[in-house]
Amino acid sequence: MQQTINIRTANPDDFERIVELENFCFPKEYAYSRRQLRYLLTKANSTVLVETAGSLIRGFIIILYRRGTTVAGVETINVDPTFQKRGIGQRLLSAAENHLRKRKIRKIRLEVSITNQAAIALYEHAGFKKIALLKNYYLYDHDDSRDAIKMIKELR
Ligand SMILES: CC(C)(COP(=O)(O)OP(=O)(O)OC[C@H]1O[C@@H](n2cnc3c(N)ncnc32)[C@H](O)[C@@H]1OP(=O)(O)O)[C@@H](O)C(=O)NCCC(=O)NCCS
Repeated sequence: MQQTINIRTANPDDFERIVELENFCFPKEYAYSRRQLRYLLTKANSTVLVETAGSLIRGFIIILYRRGTTVAGVETINVDPTFQKRGIGQRLLSAAENHLRKRKIRKIRLEVSITNQAAIALYEHAGFKKIALLKNYYLYDHDDSRDAIKMIKELR
């Protein structure tokens, strides 16, 4: 039987699966903690969208707003490794863009590790442009820092 594929706003019941996906996608030392994710989902000025096949959440995207501006940021986008490279990331990003257009957001910005080739390719594919190299942007307790690329997309 075909499962219904959908993208919707996250609700509190999705929290555990979002934590699980974060930990599937990143090693513990790089992943957002439960506490950070809870803040991003419930307290931050954010929108969280999830992609579902039937009742299974296969990916999510977190967008953060900057109060009083028409700029928003992609905080993270994660797709279950089992379902990567099937267009889910692209569909989540596109749904987020449509959501932001309705909120009159004019520009999306993000930072991505220079080592994250899949994410950089996803964003370039979606029309984001590299505008700056941010040296030592990611600082970790356990090891070295990592540079990031800043990317933006104007929404039309
Ligand atoms: C980055 C990520 C969200 C992409 O999701 P996805 O569903 O696999 O991506 P899609 O299938 O929608 O791919 C869209 C485009 O992105 C690019 N892309 C995606 N994964 C890629 C990979 N592993 N290598 C190269 N290009 C890739 C391709 O251009 C692809 O288009 P194409 O298939 O027509 O060539 C996913 O790899 C992921 O969850 N990674 C771990 C978490 C992460 O790093 N998130 C980003 C934080 S900034």
